[in-house]
Amino acid sequence: MPKQQPWWNGAVIYQLIVRSYADGNGDGVGDLQGLASRLPYLRWLGVEAIWLTPVYPSPLQDGGYDITDFKAIHPDLGDLAAFHRFLTAAHGQGLKVVMDLVLNHTSTLHPWFQRARWAPQGTPEREVYVWSDDPHRYADAPVLFRHFESSNWEWDDVAGQYYLHRFLRHQPDLNYANPLVQEEMLEVVDFWIERGVDGFRLDAVPFLCEEENSRCEGLPETHAFLKRLRERVDSHGRDVLLLAEAIQPVKEAAPYLADDELHGAFNFVLTAHLFAAIASGSTEHLRQCLQDAQDAVCGCRWALPLRNHDELWLGDGHLIPEEVIQIIRAGLHQGQGHWLNWGINRRLAPLLNGDPGSNRVLHGLLYSLPGMPCLYYGDELGMGDWPGLRDRDPNRTPMAWTPARNGGFSSAPDPLLVLPPITAPGYDYRVVNVEVQKQLPGSLLNWHRRMLTCRRLLPALRHGDFELLPSVHPSVLSYVRCDGRMTVLVAANLSAAGASLQLDLSRWEGERTREVMWGCEYPPASANWFVYLPAHGFNWWLLGEVEEQSDGLQDS
Ligand code: NOJ
Repeated sequence: MPKQQPWWNGAVIYQLIVRSYADGNGDGVGDLQGLASRLPYLRWLGVEAIWLTPVYPSPLQDGGYDITDFKAIHPDLGDLAAFHRFLTAAHGQGLKVVMDLVLNHTSTLHPWFQRARWAPQGTPEREVYVWSDDPHRYADAPVLFRHFESSNWEWDDVAGQYYLHRFLRHQPDLNYANPLVQEEMLEVVDFWIERGVDGFRLDAVPFLCEEENSRCEGLPETHAFLKRLRERVDSHGRDVLLLAEAIQPVKEAAPYLADDELHGAFNFVLTAHLFAAIASGSTEHLRQCLQDAQDAVCGCRWALPLRNHDELWLGDGHLIPEEVIQIIRAGLHQGQGHWLNWGINRRLAPLLNGDPGSNRVLHGLLYSLPGMPCLYYGDELGMGDWPGLRDRDPNRTPMAWTPARNGGFSSAPDPLLVLPPITAPGYDYRVVNVEVQKQLPGSLLNWHRRMLTCRRLLPALRHGDFELLPSVHPSVLSYVRCDGRMTVLVAANLSAAGASLQLDLSRWEGERTREVMWGCEYPPASANWFVYLPAHGFNWWLLGEVEEQSDGLQDS
């Protein structure tokens, strides 16, 4: 019997923004009631976990990442009872729920901050945040939101001091040198685990602690707190995922994945390399990046996003090699404009020039590489964006459900909508929506569903070893995933031209080869196994036979 794995091992995570997903009470804002009514869709699609961007009370100066109460639900979205109903319904559909948790900062409107600014210097209430008389402290820490802020410090008249904020000035950093802060945040984690959540996406984990003459990222004190957090989570005695958002090079992100720290981390470097590969048609950098990630930590620990609710983060040369950034800037559709902070502020489909083939090949990789594939709501449809909106709102617009008014997102009058539904040419919700695509057998949506079904039937893609095959064509990436019961071969052509190649499959000499999606037989494996992949084409093949007790994939 294979060893029991934690639920997240190889799980497909679907990220959504509750206020943009489905409006249950007709006020123009998506809510938990609306989301609960869409759970059957998510089950039908075949994802396994839902990651909710922050659902806490917030003035929404940073999309809810500016929290005023960690133990409540934003009234626009419902209340704790609505959360309970949603969670129970999600579990009833076999779906896990991962909450976003912002450890690093609060809103300036949080009662802790209001109390701190009035409290005398040196008191525990004041020390809940990081204060200074000198705005040049921690000068080596880069300003992250450089389109909005020019300093990490903001003067507060009431306190008569500056406070630290690594993000917006409305988001003061909590002071993790204060044991009270650590304890409060651990209690927040207890609170949600006791309510039944299955995991946390831990926002901005590198920045918890500060030290002079450093970038203030991933300091030993930060890791020490995260280990405490892990201990606390373990003390609840059930599998609760701790997933780090650490936008750092793989070598710097890997320490969060120490055995006694967090379970997973996003591989944002891989995200950028996937875009570079599709932009240039070359897999050279991508191969290296996959090898580096694999050498640093076992592949299954990485969460793999293509796009999310933020800009496509490329950084300043620290995260991604400058050469790769240049490839993306030059090659991606609209890569030149729409630059926000350190990245490109567009949704997946417009970045790929609306090409469903590119969407397929990139997700075909995501769904077959080791790790936790992350699908951003709407990308299963090739949904578009609204480039003119402020900040990161262009890619946070309402989900398109039907061709009806507002894309079936809400029955409210237009001016009340949280954000405008997409009517941009080529992406109009009257065409690009769930209802229409469900009815078209060849739609992107039906393709995603089929791939996720295949993935469920292939345990090797969830838990199997990963081995890159030697490169035989500059545009094609090929690898095998093997779990001892089955071997799956993947080959993907990242270029906009067809590719024919010969793979060396001598290790499987004479074995049967079958394409997974339709079960088509290919010639037996050999040292010169010929395959043709059309532009952006890819395939998954089973090599040899599947062992009997596999989870369902039988010979027909
Ligand atoms: C990362 C989140 O993804 C982003 O949306 C947010 O603005 C910052 N952290 C600050 O919380």
